[in-house]
Amino acid sequence: AGYRLVSLETTDSTNDDALEAARSGDPGRLWIVAVEQRAGRGRHGRQWSSPPGNLYASLLLMEPCEPAVAPQLGFVAGLALHEAVETMTSLGAPRLSLKWPNDLLLDGAKVSGLLLEAHRVGPQARLAIIIGFGVNVAYAPTGTPYPAASLQAVSPGLGREGVLLSLGEAFARTLAAWQASVRRSPSEPFAAIRHLWLERAAGLGKEVTLRLPTGQRSGIFEGLDRFGRLQLKTPSGVELIDAGDLYFPNL
Ligand code: BTN
Repeated sequence: AGYRLVSLETTDSTNDDALEAARSGDPGRLWIVAVEQRAGRGRHGRQWSSPPGNLYASLLLMEPCEPAVAPQLGFVAGLALHEAVETMTSLGAPRLSLKWPNDLLLDGAKVSGLLLEAHRVGPQARLAIIIGFGVNVAYAPTGTPYPAASLQAVSPGLGREGVLLSLGEAFARTLAAWQASVRRSPSEPFAAIRHLWLERAAGLGKEVTLRLPTGQRSGIFEGLDRFGRLQLKTPSGVELIDAGDLYFPNL
């Protein structure tokens, strides 16, 4: 409820379109979806190959929360995506898992990635959050840094419209539950999603390597703390990796 959808044929990047909408005064809760993208962007400045057949969608939210907890929206979105794909494919954890911070894996291969961006817009410097979803519905791209999979490989009848509809519903519900929980207990902003996320987490308790702006870090993935920071056990102690370090280059 209260969400709008703009449907495009071809565009450069739906994340850029969402930012433009924010700059033009859009009130938010705007989904922008495209059949294909000419310049789809992934995390870490990578390209996101965007031919017709897969889902490319961005959601613009205006001031959905305090800036300090905004990085948690990646977990909210990841959980919503997990739920949507679970509903569509009838597959659950552990075949469908979440890779920190917010990729969706199917049998260990990536079926979806999120690009979460934060900007300040307008004379009042309002916080605009843009969540870009790339879901491999029909194709698994080749030559990617992480092995890829597609949803149609397990559910041949599935289409991008169905995934978007299911994602839109799951996201609206997950966001509302998280916002209510943050209001109820501001000192535990992550409480509502922590267990849900960890139940679906890939690599929990195992040796993992994280690629951060400051370089690679390896250790045992012990869990998430009460703010959503990743607890990485290394020979020199437990390090807390702040999700905010990863997603918010321009806040
Ligand atoms: C990742 O690197 O895993 C994130 C990929 C995010 C891709 C989506 S597709 C829709 C939106 N528009 C973009 O340019 N990127 C995101």
